[in-house]
Amino acid sequence: MNEIKQKAAAALTEKLTAVCAASGIPLNEDNMPAVGDMFEYPPDPKLGDLAFPCFKLAKLLRMAPPKIAAALADGLTVEGIAKIEVVGGYLNLFNDQTALAAATINTILAKGERYGANDEGVGKTVVLDYSSPNVAKPFHIGHLGTTVIGHSLKKLHAFCGYNCIGINHLGDWGTQFGKMIVAYKKWGKAEDIEAGGCDAMVELYVKFHEEAEKDPALNDEARAAFAALEHGEPEHLRLWKWFIEISLKEYERTYKQLGITFDSYNGESFYTDKMPAVVEELKEKNLMKIDDGASIIDLEAYNMPPCLILKRDGSTLYPTRDIAAALYRKNTYHFDKCIYVTSAGQSLHFAQWFKVLELMGYDWAKTELVHVPYGTVSIDGAKLSTRAGNVVLLRDLFTQAIEKVAAIMEEKNPNLENKAEVAESVGVGAIIFYYLSSGRIRDINFIMEDALSFEGSTGPYAQYTYARTCSILRKAKENGMTDIDAPADLTGITMDEEENALVKTLALFPEKVAQALREYEPSVITRYILDVCADFNRFYHDQQILTCEDEKVRSMRVKLTACTRYVLGTAFDLICIKKNEKI
Ligand code: ARG
Repeated sequence: MNEIKQKAAAALTEKLTAVCAASGIPLNEDNMPAVGDMFEYPPDPKLGDLAFPCFKLAKLLRMAPPKIAAALADGLTVEGIAKIEVVGGYLNLFNDQTALAAATINTILAKGERYGANDEGVGKTVVLDYSSPNVAKPFHIGHLGTTVIGHSLKKLHAFCGYNCIGINHLGDWGTQFGKMIVAYKKWGKAEDIEAGGCDAMVELYVKFHEEAEKDPALNDEARAAFAALEHGEPEHLRLWKWFIEISLKEYERTYKQLGITFDSYNGESFYTDKMPAVVEELKEKNLMKIDDGASIIDLEAYNMPPCLILKRDGSTLYPTRDIAAALYRKNTYHFDKCIYVTSAGQSLHFAQWFKVLELMGYDWAKTELVHVPYGTVSIDGAKLSTRAGNVVLLRDLFTQAIEKVAAIMEEKNPNLENKAEVAESVGVGAIIFYYLSSGRIRDINFIMEDALSFEGSTGPYAQYTYARTCSILRKAKENGMTDIDAPADLTGITMDEEENALVKTLALFPEKVAQALREYEPSVITRYILDVCADFNRFYHDQQILTCEDEKVRSMRVKLTACTRYVLGTAFDLICIKKNEKI
């Protein structure tokens, strides 16, 4: 909440208390309305900058909303609010624009890169499980969602004081490794895998499936190979570790481009020795049932299919490993929240095993485990699948984006230093920005042309705007301005419409951060960046900044530019986009 809204909330609460006292209505903790949460932003500026609807108070005050509005407005003053109007059941509050500008600019300049943060997470730990690709398969565009949404949520949490643990829960265990081992031994060559990486491993995997169609006995061989791996057969173990090593080397390149690091790479295999205890506990608590030889947990009472714990051959499954992992993480990190970012296709899986933990008596599973799902991705209208050949690899997508951006930049600014580096961050940033522009649950159709355009609602456009703020500030310094970050003195200044609009948007940042965190929704930040850019560019085109004759106004405009730079910089960081001072 910005300062003026906070003051308005306090003044209204006080007024409300007085109105209640006058009509003999006792107020206490339970019936006290949360005034600060009731404000609305009027869609039409003619209706003010902030509105307070009184409808929800009708029951408490036993009065009609327009009467309540009139009673609350009577004699009400709020520092920073120039005018209060009653319209129907609403109080419409009009900012004292200069006061809002002074408060906003000075808060941002004082807080710098911390502006927008809150401390809701101080003293709390959150574990974030994201990216988590399945080893021996390439990193394709389907992983973009979990990787960038997950990392952005990590940044948002850290920004708000949480102690964050990012875990890459690698899919490094399961019967597919039996298949890989068999396929490799029959048809694989070490040098091909070394050179071809995940692609070469997928080829082997595909070949296994083709051959197994003709010769189903191969499936038994694969099962036996996995069982041997589970029992620690040294040659199998060696191959399995090698598959992981090759895959990780490849993933690391993508993570580096995205600027992502993890605190732990403990994947599914890490829990092998922790699962027997879980299975034992489930048995002891009488939760397991044998069904056609497999061990399951019946969830019919909760309208869900059973959760599979052990296959007929006794091998563990994906949910078993997730249950073991959640218990391990709780005991290791003592988290207050554990967040899982996966495609919406896994929603049932998470609902099932969250329920199992609850049935085991772990009450925290109800409130502390959070599944954050996201929609599917297609490119230029084509659906993607791992089986068929039309997988779009993230690295190819990035390479394509970087090349196109480099070509555009070559035209626009051929003399730029460190061109390659800038093209990489703008290109990769364009993909992230485009992806994080829509709400995460929506299915996305990726249109490359749109993502990479330097105009419109894109990453490159946002990057350009940021670089523009940097360039103005550089020049202001060259011109001898030394007090850019010092508090602004706005007395006697009347702000223009464009300046007011920009100030109003900048003042919203703390609320946007809180909303993005509450809704696990990085797109709130992405869309906000576009609002800031639109307002800043209008201001930039319509006003003289460095050439303004009036020194006081010029100084205010430079400071407003500095504020924009801080907010954009922080917001970029929150959605994992690298900043560039020059493009
Ligand atoms: N490896 C899985 C996949 O690629 C995602 C794992 C998500 N995390 C988890 N704890 N289940 O689909």
